[in-house]
Amino acid sequence: MEATSADREQWGSRIGFVLAAAGSAIGLGNIWRFPYLAGEGGGGAFVLIYLLCVVLIGMPYLYAELSLGRNSQRNPVGAIKSITGGGSAWILVGGFCVLAGFVILSYYSVVAGWAVGYAVKDIIAPTMGFQEFAASPGMVIALLGVFLLLTFLVVVGGVEEGIERWAKILLPILLVLILLIIFRAVTLDGALEGLTFYLVPDFSAITFDLVIAALGQAFFTLSLGMGAMITYGSYLPKREDIAISGAYVVVFNTLIALMAGLMIFPAIFAMGADPEAGPALVFVVLPKVFAQMPLGGLVSVLFFLLLSIAALTSSISLLEVVVSYFVDEQQWSRQKSVWLIGGVVFLMAIPSALSQGASGAFSDMSYLFGESGLFGQNNFLGILDYLIGTAGCGGPTLPPTSWWRGAVS
Ligand code: ALA
Repeated sequence: MEATSADREQWGSRIGFVLAAAGSAIGLGNIWRFPYLAGEGGGGAFVLIYLLCVVLIGMPYLYAELSLGRNSQRNPVGAIKSITGGGSAWILVGGFCVLAGFVILSYYSVVAGWAVGYAVKDIIAPTMGFQEFAASPGMVIALLGVFLLLTFLVVVGGVEEGIERWAKILLPILLVLILLIIFRAVTLDGALEGLTFYLVPDFSAITFDLVIAALGQAFFTLSLGMGAMITYGSYLPKREDIAISGAYVVVFNTLIALMAGLMIFPAIFAMGADPEAGPALVFVVLPKVFAQMPLGGLVSVLFFLLLSIAALTSSISLLEVVVSYFVDEQQWSRQKSVWLIGGVVFLMAIPSALSQGASGAFSDMSYLFGESGLFGQNNFLGILDYLIGTAGCGGPTLPPTSWWRGAVS
């Protein structure tokens, strides 16, 4: 027997929903991935194409996911069942979304754990470089555990008392932290060059690859193709008009991405660092930039705290995708779903955590896939990313296949 709509939890207010959905959207994608893609893609040219992709493709897709959830009042599998009448192969699409939410959460939490570790790095690992840090098994697993525990504690509280309440607390903190760092960055000598690179498009930099990267980023950042927006939409009352709420989510998410660039590029240029450092930009280049900057120690702590909070409001939504499936379709209690699924996610995340140098078996899987790897990937995390993120339900929503190898180079 399925839970009836009357039993189902709902958001307590429109603003609560907007903040929770914006929290899902705002994450590592905005603060880590967007700046490095913009840095690689010539700055302003990437930003321009990205904005077009968000408005012309991402936003309609977001509305489609939200309305599918709102109208069906179900998790992604139940939502597809409700429009196909069950017994259709389309249900697999819903199943892929739940699976994508689950798998993405496993390795997203590993990177988020790094962010947590970097926020307190001066205490836990003051002398370690990123490579050594990411290859320390005890450290990365403990940080992964801390991050996932925080995610579980929020989700177990439920839709209104857990997710919505924490979104209302965490998003304003995130905004204050970001504004503080922008202020520090744009007041550095030489910041203007970074602003120009970031904001003035060089049209000659626009290539097919850049357009694909910008489109993928639009999907990733709006949490599309991972079931999150279907699930969050399903906690809206049926009468709720999503046109305005959805637009707020897009606006907040885009503003935070643009602000992430405003805090990163002025600092990078002012300190003479390389904006094209790729995925290593945040974990390898920025700490060096912070180290040379006045008040850099404080800015570094604030920055990685910000990254951890942003990742948390997204990981909550990824866990909720899977929890909503078990609550709706299997009639599990929320408590049972969170702790059981959470335990499996933690176990499943361990190989990813160990795949950046801590364990040879997971870091270099050429013994299974040969020297060239599976689709160019040889570590566990990169392979999952390709299979689920690039080739799976997330479609073009995840980083390019070289992402994880680059992260530790
Ligand atoms: N939308 C989330 C992010 O940008 C997944 O990190």
